[in-house]
Amino acid sequence: MKTLLTSALPYANGPLHLGHLAGAYLPADIFARYLRLMGKEVLWVCGSDEHGAAITLRAKKEGITPRDIIDKYHELNKSSFEQLGVSFDYYHRTSAPLHHETSQDFFKKLLEKGDQFEVKTTEQYYDAEAEQFLADRYIKGTCPNCGSDNAFGDQCENCGKDLSPTELINPVSTISGAKPELRETKHWFFKLDQHEAWLKEWIQHGTVEGRQLHDPKAWKKHVIGQCMSWLDGGLHPRSITRDLDWGIQVPVAGAEGKVLYVWFDAPIGYVSATKQWALENGGDWEGWWKGEDARLIHFIGKDNIVFHCIVFPAMLRAHGEYNLPENVPANQFLNFEGDKFSKSRGWGIELHEYLETFKDFPNGKDALRWALIRNLPEQQDADFTWDGFTEYYDKDLADKLGNFFNRVTVLTHKYFGGKVPEANTAARAQVQSKISEAVHAIGTHIEAYRFKDAATAFVELASFGNTYLQDAAPWSLFKANPDDPAIAETMYNSIQIAAALALTATPFIPFSAEKLRATLNQVPANNGDWQLALDALTAGLPLLPSGHLLGEAGVLFPKIEDRKDDSRKLIIQGERDKLAAILARKEEEKEIITTTAGEAARPAAKPEITFDDFLKLDLRTATILSAAPVKKSNKLLHLTIDLGTEQRSVVSGIAKHFAPEDIVGRQVVCVTNLAPRKMAGVLSEAMILMAEDGEGKLVFVSPPAGFAAGWGVR
Ligand code: MF3
Ligand code: ZN
Repeated sequence: MKTLLTSALPYANGPLHLGHLAGAYLPADIFARYLRLMGKEVLWVCGSDEHGAAITLRAKKEGITPRDIIDKYHELNKSSFEQLGVSFDYYHRTSAPLHHETSQDFFKKLLEKGDQFEVKTTEQYYDAEAEQFLADRYIKGTCPNCGSDNAFGDQCENCGKDLSPTELINPVSTISGAKPELRETKHWFFKLDQHEAWLKEWIQHGTVEGRQLHDPKAWKKHVIGQCMSWLDGGLHPRSITRDLDWGIQVPVAGAEGKVLYVWFDAPIGYVSATKQWALENGGDWEGWWKGEDARLIHFIGKDNIVFHCIVFPAMLRAHGEYNLPENVPANQFLNFEGDKFSKSRGWGIELHEYLETFKDFPNGKDALRWALIRNLPEQQDADFTWDGFTEYYDKDLADKLGNFFNRVTVLTHKYFGGKVPEANTAARAQVQSKISEAVHAIGTHIEAYRFKDAATAFVELASFGNTYLQDAAPWSLFKANPDDPAIAETMYNSIQIAAALALTATPFIPFSAEKLRATLNQVPANNGDWQLALDALTAGLPLLPSGHLLGEAGVLFPKIEDRKDDSRKLIIQGERDKLAAILARKEEEKEIITTTAGEAARPAAKPEITFDDFLKLDLRTATILSAAPVKKSNKLLHLTIDLGTEQRSVVSGIAKHFAPEDIVGRQVVCVTNLAPRKMAGVLSEAMILMAEDGEGKLVFVSPPAGFAAGWGVR
């Protein structure tokens, strides 16, 4: 059985971030590496998605060509993937002539069928100044849904609503700023509606015309759910051509100036990548796509579900010949420290940035892979945090895995000159079956796309090893009687557990797996080794035979928490500081907005409240005990106030008005029952009352000097 794997082609108009990795690339890498270790035939293709209006738009804005952009990001992304050990068999690009030709052939084939396309003339916005039709992304206007002025012709990024350009209020061309006019233009539509019935059957039951193609229970629920809600909404013909000059020419006379829609050509990129791989490696591309003994699996993020489960399968079946995907194990989204990744806000970390910043961080690549794997958004959205990053590294890799390897190798060198000792069959049996179960379980989880469970099973095997060794306590046995055969048995069994770990670590943390294996004096795992290990375990044979000499002992994963001056802690702190600075800036912007409002006019009257409402405010006198600037903020001061019975931390936006040393000792009035909140990463547990005049001058609302702290204000 051949397994053809694809991962969503990333757009070559920006760098990859951790969310992309967790969505479509790391899970596929675990899957591909595992299948290879199982001795299966696997081909994993990916590449850059280099068409689409977003690329031309960006090029126009920056005064460069689309080619400049795609060349830059194709190289950057390809090399970032490589550095992180993402083991594609081929990373192609959609600007390649072979891809243009493959996509055009695909289009022509559907055209020849006669019943797949319809040509329609529709009205579309045209920029008379720039003399071109406007792709949806090239039009901006007011959102009819939320009123934001920055909505695009295809979507409002403020409220998320999908739009069509004619829904925008006051549309303008982003190319010339002109008001666009509607003009007639001709486009090819793929008649997706014709495919609705079989797609429904296929998604729900995994059957096509009664033939069972896959087991729908093996698909993720959220994937089927999204597909069904689309199908229930009814499918409609979709335009697959655009009036643009960047992309793949529509291969029909009279279609000059038109290109294929990017979502038509991009998935065909999987096919052209396979062809290019076959050209360079002497394979047969058609066998992978059309063979009865071949299966197709698409790894994607949830935003791509509809294209991979509905549109592309319809294209494949309309074409005929091609296999349909056996599964589309889409992931949900990964957030970053509680918020969406956002390039414009600088929120998140890009892969190339990580690789650069963490280049001297020992095991840095696997530390990242591991943190992401432990926290994959398989069923729900997940959140990447630097706390989690440190914790997964310390608890799993340092405390469990590294510690176990260190103890096993140190003790084997101490008691047996580094050689795997002898042990009799009875002593081996129990641990042997435990290892066998674990190795099976890890593989079963991977095959079912439960990568987090697989990682958990892996960690559990390491925990089992530690507990086993701890309970057997060969060091105590050795003290009592150095020739006790139980010492050899314990070390023998522990070494077998270590060997199983060094093998099964490979799909998750490939760089460290090589180190683990070197510690056991093994070469890196080869294709088929996982299957060989399973066979050995079944036959009751060891993974490492008696007499095998282990490598050097060492600390493979030193803990991050152990030392205060740990350079790794500083690297992580640097990342935290960047985030704190972004948050501080955001707070300042908020404060500035309030201040400018105050400068312009007296505050507007607020709605009436009841006396009870007023009584809800807990107002008290207080004394400022200390004041200091807040790091990376020029608006905020961090104060400690005395409330008579307690002290509290307060963050106040007064740094532009007061020097810290001038306000220490000052009497103030505070609201003390406002819910605590963090500003720029610092906790604020009360609010100090200030008055502001028309010039924006700020003064404290203060009782006279010497007035006692902690008394009520009414
Ligand atoms: N470039 C698209 C995205 O990043 C994914 C394309 S996947 C493909 O969302 F199937 F079209 F290649
Ligand atoms: Zn909106």
